Amino acid sequence: MIQISRAVLPAIITAGIAIFALAPTAHAADMDAAKTLARANNCFKCHAVTRDKDGPGWKKVADKYRGKPDAEAKLMHHLTSGEMVKLADGSQVHHAIIKTDPANNTAQIKNLVDWILSL
Ligand code: HEC
Repeated sequence: MIQISRAVLPAIITAGIAIFALAPTAHAADMDAAKTLARANNCFKCHAVTRDKDGPGWKKVADKYRGKPDAEAKLMHHLTSGEMVKLADGSQVHHAIIKTDPANNTAQIKNLVDWILSL
């Protein structure tokens, strides 16, 4: 059996707590990367975080999907399918399909979706 002296035990416990406290939560999004991707795709032409433009403010989107288990999947589909959306002037257009570098990087899109949902 491994003997841990009473002297090192507090140090081990402290280190354990520190690691736990610093570990990012499972869904924490990288905000800077999310905003960079949104900027590169001109998403902010039609969206802002708090106010509505041609598209809904992203806080409103987060509220709409709060507590819905399929939220991430729905928004992943929304950003990759080019489904029809209605602009403020009533015209219908295909929603922007997000582009990543390298192409079709699901992790980057997911990070942006998770950030939007966290607002
Ligand atoms: C030409 C304007 C325009 C651009 C550019 C645009 N959007 Fe949108 N977006 C809209 C409109 C309009 C809606 C509202 C769709 C609806 O509710 O019918 C929308 C809806 C959304 C939603 C909510 C979807 C839902 O299911 O409620 C998200 C999230 C979103 N856009 C993200 C993005 C991202 C990310 C980008 C950049 C890749 C982007 N949009 C670029 C106009 C735009």
